[in-house]
Amino acid sequence: MIDKSVREERPVMSEPQKIQPSSLADVAASKFEKQDNVSAAYGSGLDARNIYAWFGKYLAVSDMSIYFAAGTVTALIGPSGCGKSTFIRTLNRMHEFIPGAAMSGEVFLHGKDIYTSGIDVTKIRLKIGMVFQKPNPFPSMSIGENVLAGIKLAQLKVPNKNELMQDCLERAGLWSEVKDRLNQPGGSLSGGQQQRLCIARSLAVNPDVLLMDEPCSALDPGSTLKIEETIGELAKTMAVIIVTHNMQQAARVSDYTAFLLSEGGPGKLIEFAPTREIFGRPKDIRTENYVTGRFG
Ligand SMILES: Nc1ncnc2c1ncn2[C@@H]1O[C@H](COP(=O)(O)OP(=O)(O)OP(=O)(O)O)[C@@H](O)[C@H]1O
Ligand SMILES: [Mg+2]
Repeated sequence: MIDKSVREERPVMSEPQKIQPSSLADVAASKFEKQDNVSAAYGSGLDARNIYAWFGKYLAVSDMSIYFAAGTVTALIGPSGCGKSTFIRTLNRMHEFIPGAAMSGEVFLHGKDIYTSGIDVTKIRLKIGMVFQKPNPFPSMSIGENVLAGIKLAQLKVPNKNELMQDCLERAGLWSEVKDRLNQPGGSLSGGQQQRLCIARSLAVNPDVLLMDEPCSALDPGSTLKIEETIGELAKTMAVIIVTHNMQQAARVSDYTAFLLSEGGPGKLIEFAPTREIFGRPKDIRTENYVTGRFG
């Protein structure tokens, strides 16, 4: 089991804005290091193998293989245009909905390739949820209905909807702020609250994996901190994959970091390692240059 007492003592979480870039290695090193077997209790995670992704003839992502263990947070970092969003969209079969887009490779969830022919794509997306850069709640739907929207769409039966709604809002760190206004529209919330509402909505369908593409890029430091705390909680029971341009965020929230780069060609995985290694003693000089802010 994860040692909760250790994980909850994250000294850097309280004042993220005060962390200096030079201390990224310390931030990453101060985190509790999860043991490899921690995740076993929560399933097998997500295993992406040899992913290539095209837009028409343009190869955007080349030969990316990453194993995302259940019970961990993985940060995807790299300069703009290196294929982070494209790669993450191949992980829940969203890439194929872009006209002209194609992919090859395998993505195993619980030992089964999500690209197996005949598989129900809707069910895959329930198991592999996604939160986007811009919060996208249904603005006129009430806060409570927003949380249950996925349940309704997928026609899932739940014994007690109110209990589920509260549970998801609590796990998303939003309950105390909305418990007295559940009937107000989702659009009445602040940007940071809307993002946590979207996280609550994703949780309602009980995913095993949560993909987050720059979920905090439009948020103030306080909302960012709340979402980072939420991510820490969620990752106790699922695999969380987060794209971020914020190196401090990657150092604070993730257990593993993947550094992607496109050097005039398709985006490739340059280095994948425990976050403390990426920020403390990266193996590749390109990783070191990027995390120390020398380019990108
Ligand atoms: N719909 C699309 N059609 C054609 N090319 C695209 C499309 N989306 C992305 N690309 C191209 O694929 C490459 C990877 O883009 P992607 O959006 O995955 O990068 P990213 O790493 O997420 O960048 P950012 O950090 O700016 O979000 C880029 O060269 C981009 O121009
Ligand atoms: Mg992107």
